[in-house]
Amino acid sequence: MSDTVAYDRHGDIAVLSIQNPPVNALSQAVRAGLVARVAQAEAEEGVRAVLITGAGRAFIAGADITEFGKPPMEPSLPDAIDRIEASPLLVVASMHGVSLGGGLEVALGCHYRIAVPSARIGLPEVFLGLIPGAGGTQRLPRLAGAMAAIDMATSGRQVGAEEAAQMGVIDVVQDGDAKEKGIAYVEKLLSDGAPRRPVSEMPAADAIDWDATYEAVLARARGQIAPAEAVRAIQASVEKPFGEGMLAERQIFWDLLKGDQSKGMIHAFFSERAVSNLPELKGVTPRNLDHIGVIGGGTMGAGIATAALLSGVHVTLLEMTGDAGEAARGRITGNLAGALKRGKISAEQHETILSKALQVSTDYASLSDADLVIEAVFEDMSVKKQVFTKLDEVCKAGAILASNTSYLDVTEIAACTKRPQDVIGLHFFSPAHVMKLLEVVVPDETAIDVVATGFALGKKLNKISVRAGVCDGFIGNRILSTYRQAADQMVMQGASPYAIDTALEAFGFAMGPFAVADLAGLDIGWAVRKRKRAEAGIEGVSTYADKMCEAGNFGQKTGKGYYDYAAGAKARVPNADVMPLIEVDRAAEGTPQRSFTDADIVRYYMAAMVNESAKVVGEGIARRPLDVDMTLLFGYGFPRYRGGPLKWADLVGLDDLLADIRSYGDTMPDFWAPAPLLETLVAEGKTFATLNT
Ligand code: 3HC
Ligand code: NAI
Repeated sequence: MSDTVAYDRHGDIAVLSIQNPPVNALSQAVRAGLVARVAQAEAEEGVRAVLITGAGRAFIAGADITEFGKPPMEPSLPDAIDRIEASPLLVVASMHGVSLGGGLEVALGCHYRIAVPSARIGLPEVFLGLIPGAGGTQRLPRLAGAMAAIDMATSGRQVGAEEAAQMGVIDVVQDGDAKEKGIAYVEKLLSDGAPRRPVSEMPAADAIDWDATYEAVLARARGQIAPAEAVRAIQASVEKPFGEGMLAERQIFWDLLKGDQSKGMIHAFFSERAVSNLPELKGVTPRNLDHIGVIGGGTMGAGIATAALLSGVHVTLLEMTGDAGEAARGRITGNLAGALKRGKISAEQHETILSKALQVSTDYASLSDADLVIEAVFEDMSVKKQVFTKLDEVCKAGAILASNTSYLDVTEIAACTKRPQDVIGLHFFSPAHVMKLLEVVVPDETAIDVVATGFALGKKLNKISVRAGVCDGFIGNRILSTYRQAADQMVMQGASPYAIDTALEAFGFAMGPFAVADLAGLDIGWAVRKRKRAEAGIEGVSTYADKMCEAGNFGQKTGKGYYDYAAGAKARVPNADVMPLIEVDRAAEGTPQRSFTDADIVRYYMAAMVNESAKVVGEGIARRPLDVDMTLLFGYGFPRYRGGPLKWADLVGLDDLLADIRSYGDTMPDFWAPAPLLETLVAEGKTFATLNT
């Protein structure tokens, strides 16, 4: 008999304990084990009730996601749950840790539910591009009502035990050991003569305005379809008999499982865990991270300091002058006030951080005891080198010296110190206390435990850390500058910035590239262009983008950029001055004009992104395709339900994409030179996924 579901007797109660570490996912063995153990309990003399519990840290975290996409294996989860619910014995679930997705559905298949106060329930299937597929949309509304079920199934949010009890999902909340409390609860139910209480036999929930709810959920989901489909499944629970509702739910579940959105999101689920899991770091002990120094308290330095402080690390922030130091303190205080307001820290933690954990200084000596120092000073090689030379003098032996540079060569920065083995790039994204991505940029000479410490810092700060090699812009900014150029090419060829933004937002990007440029400030790119032209000795050039800046239009912060913000940031009214300036450049360049459909825009932009991503992987700047995917997802607003650019490429087909890249190269062969890796994969009939192992 299965080891994954242990069986023991407590008087007239059969206790079934699921043992499938780490989180008791409902693998085929667990499903079969549950069915077999329920049958065993029914067959044994004297058993009157079954208690289902989870061994270890959770009741059940849900269906086994690794089985998705494989041929179905009996028993299915809905069948297993129906079997549990149909038992003539009294069946009770005792929940601790998480009961998610299929885990909650197992509990809903039981006749009663008890939980410890720290237990959490949820239907997170939407995060995998799915809806609950084992009765969650049919049983939950019968207990909690349609609106509560819609809230849980469309948001995927976790609900605490007390709230779940108020919703009618959990019958009793009791502190203590889940198994012991469960047994005592079943004993009481038996002595009270409590009846079996199958949820499937309860009356359906009241109807709501389904179409309005469906439309509202669809609009909120920004292109993701699963949440709105969950509304339709819950509608079926109200409008159809239980058995038919189950079939409706199952059909929607299977349709979604076959679709690209769930493939993208399941890829994201596993990749966000795999990305920081590097074989060479196994068993490597990271260095200490108790005291962190941050140099420069501007946008990034203040954000990095905030992230570290919120994670309980002691921070010394170094600025150039007392005034600049106070300005930095002000930024951090503002960030922390936001964290307090959002309930991320308590008032007491807020007070301790400001009074004890943060030190602001103008004296390098205050960094002598720091375990790791991150510089976030101006993006200028000579300033960076001055800072690193100074750090090399004052920092203790073994201290890690890190740079938050966006583009500069970290190997060159390291070379100005006597300890290049201790130097690394730690590239945060703005705002650094909010954005999840951290690129750990590793020059050749960096010691392995320094790399491990970079990843340990990412974990401590609750970031998704991606290893990147040294090149101009590392993984993310290098790919960004390529697809940005593709957008600019389309503008010259006849697409308006507004059509491009609209098409890419419909594709799922949080914001189109021109709206992003307005948000970030057009002056940044202007300064870079001017610097590069000066370095190349080019004079007298002024493109339409330069002219916008020359007129003082830097985007949102000046009220005008590509868009006119007089009516507010959300109104997104095109700035009427922009198209005439573009027309002048188009005429001057003599670029052949063509029309772009939304699909053409997406294809052109994505082809550039995929091609550069393939180069980044091919050159070893990113280890695996999934590293690029996670960089774009967590740092650049790429839609999660598409999995990342290389997952998207696999799904649309690499051979067609390569053919398009070659055709775009007719006019710009250098820019569109196909990535050798992409050519190899196409020649061998392989996908990027084959490189993700
Ligand atoms: N199936 C398979 N593996 C799972 C899993 C699942 N449902 N949930 C977690 N795991 C794996 C993770 O991949 C990870 O593996 P690794 O160590 O090899 O990387 C390991 O378990 C531990 O997971 P975490 O690192 O995420 O541990 P945390 O403690 O941070 O989080 C958790 C635990 C909250 C359970 C989190 O893992 C989670 O949210 N899991 C997904 C839950 C989920 O989506 N459930 C619904 C599944 S779909 C479903 O049930 C369909 C049904 O309606 C038919
Ligand atoms: P910023 O201009 O807002 O801040 C720089 C700060 O460094 C200023 O407060 C300045 O007083 C201070 N500073 C300059 N030289 C110093 C020195 N020698 N010693 C001590 N302090 C000094 O710049 P920002 O945007 O914070 O960028 C900092 C670094 O982070 C740059 O390398 C940038 O490329 C990088 N970066 C910026 C991102 C962004 O979105 N702004 C994103 C990721 C990285």
